[in-house]
Amino acid sequence: MITEINFKGKRVLVTGGAGFVGPNLVRAVFDAGGQVIVLDDLFTGTRDNIDSDIEYEFVEGSVTDQKLVGELVGRVDYVAHMAARNIIISTKDPREDYATNIGGTLNILLAARENPDVRVVYTSSASVYGNPRSLPILEDETPLTFSPYSVSKLAGENYCTAFYETYGVKVASVRYSNVYGIKQDPANPYCGVVSKFIEALDAGKPVTVHGDGLQTRDYTYVTDTVEATLIALLSAKADGMVFNIGAGVETSVLTLAEEIGLAMGKKVEIRHVDRRDIDNIRRRVLNIERIRSRLRWQPQTTLREGIRRTVEWWEKAKQAQSQSRA
Ligand SMILES: NC(=O)c1ccc[n+]([C@@H]2O[C@H](COP(=O)([O-])OP(=O)(O)OC[C@H]3O[C@@H](n4cnc5c(N)ncnc54)[C@H](O)[C@@H]3O)[C@@H](O)[C@H]2O)c1
Repeated sequence: MITEINFKGKRVLVTGGAGFVGPNLVRAVFDAGGQVIVLDDLFTGTRDNIDSDIEYEFVEGSVTDQKLVGELVGRVDYVAHMAARNIIISTKDPREDYATNIGGTLNILLAARENPDVRVVYTSSASVYGNPRSLPILEDETPLTFSPYSVSKLAGENYCTAFYETYGVKVASVRYSNVYGIKQDPANPYCGVVSKFIEALDAGKPVTVHGDGLQTRDYTYVTDTVEATLIALLSAKADGMVFNIGAGVETSVLTLAEEIGLAMGKKVEIRHVDRRDIDNIRRRVLNIERIRSRLRWQPQTTLREGIRRTVEWWEKAKQAQSQSRA
């Protein structure tokens, strides 16, 4: 890594900072000397996700509130825009998704246009690729938006590129692949598969796999995702660009379940159920050469190590919970 992550004396607005990736990013910005403002409407997030030793300002509100967004962006040097309605809500109600994922992003960009020194990073998703024609997927792959969620994430990106080209707004888009790791709350029905599998195995239950389990994804450990996001936020070389962020490793759901079983010392029993309407992507792994060569970032955490850390965190969190109940 060449770009040093240093936010000393800088103010950073983190939208969606009370969700899963957001609190990990808040931690990293705080540790790098930054002052953080979190904007979150607590739709799925909770302030408990943000470490209690971090000093930050919390604003409960929505990115759909243009006036509020304008005021907050006017107070900061950087914006990490992570607030989004997730794929499950989006599939149920595409209007909610439209208002937040597209309308909210437009509000951030309009505010950034008024504050030309502000640098923005927008968190997009590898879901914009649909079923890609070739693997590993390059950023130049033609997007195939198979879900309302992927439509809105791509629209957000397109607005970012347009605002860079038209108004010179300093903005980069990062396409996350499946992120997993600490602070991914299995109690949240929208959380990812890693936390769900850990929870099931811990309870001695079979893990539920939608379809045959041979579908693949590129699982990325959250601190790697956060580091890449912050490098894109800090670097002028990222302006106007789109970057894949992944581990660059293709893993099937069945292999993932085995790895989690191994880390927890549990035998894995699989319960196959029907595919869901959001599981229509067969294979996914990202080519991460662009961010590696342009921003000098590469992932540090293997799947085995990431799962080990996640399981360790899960066990500590469970212990703390049972102690606080006692
Ligand atoms: N986690 C992943 O695997 C993954 C993969 C691809 C892309 N992403 C993108 O990364 C970002 C962060 O993902 P995450 O997993 O932390 O999501 P998350 O759902 O855990 O967190 C999103 C946060 O945004 C908040 N929010 C939702 N609507 C809002 C609104 N209108 N105004 C303000 N806050 C609002 C929620 O309360 C929540 O705290 C999102 O933009 C998501 O689309 C995540």
